[in-house]
Amino acid sequence: MKDWPYTVFPTGWYQVGYSSELQPGDVRPAMYFDQHLVMFRTETGEVSLLDAYCQHLGAHLGYGGTVKGECIECPFHGWLWQADGELAEIPYAPGERRRVKIARWVTREVNGLILVWYDAFGREPFWEWPGIPEFADVEHNYPIVHDHVGIRKIIPQSPVENTPDYYHFMWVHGAGQPGKPLLWKEDQHYLHTRVGFWYGHGKKATWMTPNGPVFGEIETEAWGLGLSNARFVLDGFITNQLTAATPVDAEHSQLFETITVNRQPDGGPEPTGRAARMIEFQKGQIRRDFAIWENQRYVEHPPFAGGEEEHYARFRRWSRQFYSDKPYTASTEVAAAS
Ligand code: FES
Ligand SMILES: [Fe+2]
Repeated sequence: MKDWPYTVFPTGWYQVGYSSELQPGDVRPAMYFDQHLVMFRTETGEVSLLDAYCQHLGAHLGYGGTVKGECIECPFHGWLWQADGELAEIPYAPGERRRVKIARWVTREVNGLILVWYDAFGREPFWEWPGIPEFADVEHNYPIVHDHVGIRKIIPQSPVENTPDYYHFMWVHGAGQPGKPLLWKEDQHYLHTRVGFWYGHGKKATWMTPNGPVFGEIETEAWGLGLSNARFVLDGFITNQLTAATPVDAEHSQLFETITVNRQPDGGPEPTGRAARMIEFQKGQIRRDFAIWENQRYVEHPPFAGGEEEHYARFRRWSRQFYSDKPYTASTEVAAAS
């Protein structure tokens, strides 16, 4: 983003794919955090994300590398590397050992997402992503939708910075009024908020509110800046939308939207009717935000109005921890604002 003041990528967990899209034996080249990487799944199912380059003569393992058992075989001279990056074997010199190793990145698989830990200061993970309960509960929710948005000129701060932005709903998302803050709670790397809305405001019935206006909520949760979920709650109609922004380089991120809706009485295994429409609607709404963020310039000291500074300033203070190696221990809970 133009005028962006930070020079490091923010600390945290980031999505690098979906579990079901990386089957045993699959190998993919990847680029995140300005580094060339290779991601693969071994035959027993372990995910490995390594620096891309073979330590022998520098071939990129993501282009032509193949999984052999629990190892990846280099396409150039067949050296075998373990999932942890250790050299397993030099096939044409089986007795020889070389003190070389490929760096491995820390990954997790949670709720069908593949995550990587990033910390510019080299620290091991000091928190975990707990996941979204609805993503795991397919009895009451439809299977998650994978919306591959692709690489856009967006930094991870932007999606999460939507959280305190109660007025943009009117201009970007067509809301009839600004969001009403109901909860703002920070707990170290975790930010939890609730914002109230009248859905279908002033209208007898809409596809989203067939029985007339409903006072609903958007509950947002952010874990660092890489993963943020919005839970749209309209009576018993509940949509979860996780936005994942993973830096590719200083200006671009790969974006994933993961969406589910709770199962509706109409029964089928896949979303239909209002549920199907809501999923498409949310895909469209977030793209309206993307169009703003892609072209936005960073304003460090905005001329705030209408009370927006209260939570915006809190957000900006909270977000700073991810660009720093200083421990952040503040915990703040603010009751409903005016
Ligand atoms: S470059 Fe990988 S085995 Fe030679
Ligand atoms: Fe938005």
